[in-house]
Amino acid sequence: MSMIPQETIQRVVSESDIVDVVGSYISLKRAGANYRALCPFHTEKTPSFNVNPARQIYHCFGCGAGGDVIAFVKEYENLAFAEAVQRLADRAGIRIVEAEFDPQQEARSKLRRQLQTLHKKVAEWYHFLLFKKPAAEIARDYLKRRQISMETARRWQLGYAPDDTAPLLDWAAEEKFDHRLLVESGLAMWRDETEPRRGIYARFRNRLMFPIASEFGDVIAFSGRVLSPDQKGGKYVNSPETILFNKSKVFFGLDKSKRAILKAGEAILCEGQMDLIACFENGIENVVAPLGTAFTEQHARVLKRNAEQVVLCFDSDAAGYKAAERAFRQLAQANVLVKVAPLPPGEDPDSLIGKEGAELFHERIENALSFFDYQINHLSAGMNWESLRDRLEFARTVSGNIALVKEKVLQDSLINQVSTRLGVSADDIRGLVAESARELDRQSRSSARAPSSDDEPERPPAFFIRDPTVRILTQILLRNESARKELASRPLPAYLGEIPGTQLLARLWTADFDASSPHSVSACINTLPETFQPLAAELVAEEIPPLDLNMAEACLLKLNRRALRNRQNEIRAGLNNLNLPPAEIQRLTKELLDLSTRLKDIPPPKTTGG
Ligand code: UTP
Ligand code: MN
Repeated sequence: MSMIPQETIQRVVSESDIVDVVGSYISLKRAGANYRALCPFHTEKTPSFNVNPARQIYHCFGCGAGGDVIAFVKEYENLAFAEAVQRLADRAGIRIVEAEFDPQQEARSKLRRQLQTLHKKVAEWYHFLLFKKPAAEIARDYLKRRQISMETARRWQLGYAPDDTAPLLDWAAEEKFDHRLLVESGLAMWRDETEPRRGIYARFRNRLMFPIASEFGDVIAFSGRVLSPDQKGGKYVNSPETILFNKSKVFFGLDKSKRAILKAGEAILCEGQMDLIACFENGIENVVAPLGTAFTEQHARVLKRNAEQVVLCFDSDAAGYKAAERAFRQLAQANVLVKVAPLPPGEDPDSLIGKEGAELFHERIENALSFFDYQINHLSAGMNWESLRDRLEFARTVSGNIALVKEKVLQDSLINQVSTRLGVSADDIRGLVAESARELDRQSRSSARAPSSDDEPERPPAFFIRDPTVRILTQILLRNESARKELASRPLPAYLGEIPGTQLLARLWTADFDASSPHSVSACINTLPETFQPLAAELVAEEIPPLDLNMAEACLLKLNRRALRNRQNEIRAGLNNLNLPPAEIQRLTKELLDLSTRLKDIPPPKTTGG
C-alpha cells in the first residue's frame, strides 16, 4: 500500500469525532466533560476507560491502552495503521488521495458514497411502508404471528417491500437515484441488460425486509423474507455482492451484538436472522448469524477479533451437522475454541425460545459440549463399539479435526480426551493427528504455490498479537529499560506457555539488549526470526502513552489468572466425559480445587487509579 499523505491523515482525524467513533463500537456514558465505559481491551467490572472529546483521545486507567481515534480503530479492529485510516476515511466519506490522481479510484469512492446514501434512505423508506401503508398489512400480520413487537421491528428497522416495482421507481425518481445506481445496489435488475431503456424491476417484492448492517451500523444490503407460501423465489432473498457488501465476511446483527460478544468473550452462532433477533430480544445478546452462505475463513477471522470462543447453535439434521463441522474447521484454524449446543430435532433458537423460554435456552448454551464431544456423540450413533477397526476409523475422522487446533496444549488435552472416550491409545491418536497435520501442511503449501511458478523462498506468515495484555507486556520489554531489567532478572513465568501469542514476549524476556538504546533495540530485533520482526518494529514505533513496571505487574497477574482459568475450563470440560475412570475424576477434581485456591491467592486486577 502506498503512503497516505500527512494532510489526509489529519483530515481523517479532524472529521472523525472520537466520541462518535468509539461510541459506534461500545456504549459510552457521559461523566462530566468526558465519557466513560467498560474498557474493551481488558476485562473489568467498573469503568476505567475514558474518552476525552476536548483532546480527542481515549485512555484506560486500568490497562493503560490509549491514543487517538486512529489508534482506537486500529487496536479495536486489529488493523494495520493504513487500514484503520482507510476505514475512518470511508466512514467520513473522504477519499484517500494517492500520490497520483486515479480516476478509477475516484469513481469507486463516489459510487461507494452513493450506495451508502441509497441504502440508508431505502431502509428508512421500507421501514416507513411497513408501519404506514395499508398494503403492508400482510407483513404486520406476519410479525404478529411471529411475536415480533413493533418496538422490536423498530429496533431492527424491519421493512416492507411492495409487491410490484412501481413504488420503488416513483420513490427513486423523487429522491433522484437513477436506474443504474439501483441496479448497482442490487435493489433492482435490468429487464434487458443489453437494452437499458427497457427499464428495471425490483428484486425484493412483497417481502419482509431485514436491513443488513456493517460493523459500524451502516446499512449495506438487505435480506427479504417471503410473506405468503405461494410466493415465487427462495424463502429468503439477499442482496447480491456489491462494493459495500461482501457476503463471506458479513454477519447479520454484529453491529448490535459486538459489545456483548466482546464482554462475554464468546459468540453464539445461529443460522438465521429470525433466530438472532429472538435471542437478542430475549436478553441473549452475544449472537451472530451468517447470511445463508457457508461459513468462511473470513467469517472466522471476523469472529476471532471479538471472541475467544464460539457456540454453534445449528439445526440437528444432517445439514446442521455438516454446517457445524465446516464452521469448526474454519474457526479452529483461526484459533477459536468451538462448542456446540445441540438442539432437539426440528427446532431452531427462535422456535425453542418461543416454546421453552429464554432461560432454558440459555441453559442449553451454558451446557454446550466441546465440538469433539458433539462430533463423537453424533457419529457414534451408527457405529460398532466392539470393533477396534471401527474405533480406529472413527479416531481417524476426529484426528483430522484435532490436527486443525494449533495450540499445542489444547491439542494434547484433546488427544487425551478422545483417547479415553474411544478406548484407543493416546499414542495411536497422536500418530493420526501428526499424519493429518502433515497432510494439511502439504495441501496448504501446494495451494499457496499454485498461482506462481517461480521459486520464491517460502515465507512463513507474519506473527501477530491479538491480546492487548500480551501486547502491552511485550511493548514494555521493548520500551522501558528499567522495567525490562527487572523482569529479565526473574525466570520466565511458566504460565505464559499457556497463553497464546506469547512467543515474541518469551524471546524478548530472555534476550540481551538495552531498551533505552534505539540502536540496541534494533540490533535485537534483527536477530529475531523473520516472522517476528515486523510486529516487533511496530510495537517499538507505535505512539502510545508511557508504560511502566506497575503496568507490567498488572498484566502478569492478569495473564496468570487467565492461564489458571483456562486450565479450570479444560478440566471442567474433561469432567463432562462420562467414561472417565473414577481415579481420573478424583485427580481432576483435586486439581480443580487446587486451581481455585491458587486463583484466590492472586490479587484481583486493580481497576481504579490516577
Ligand atoms: P432457515 O430456512 O433454516 O430458517 O434459514 P427458518 O427457521 O426455516 O426460517 P424462519 O425462522 O421462518 O425465517 C436460515 C437462514 O438461512 C438463510 C437466511 O439467512 C435464513 O435466515 N436462507 C434460508 C437464505 O438465505 N435463503 C433461503 O432460501 C433460505
Ligand atoms: Mn426459524
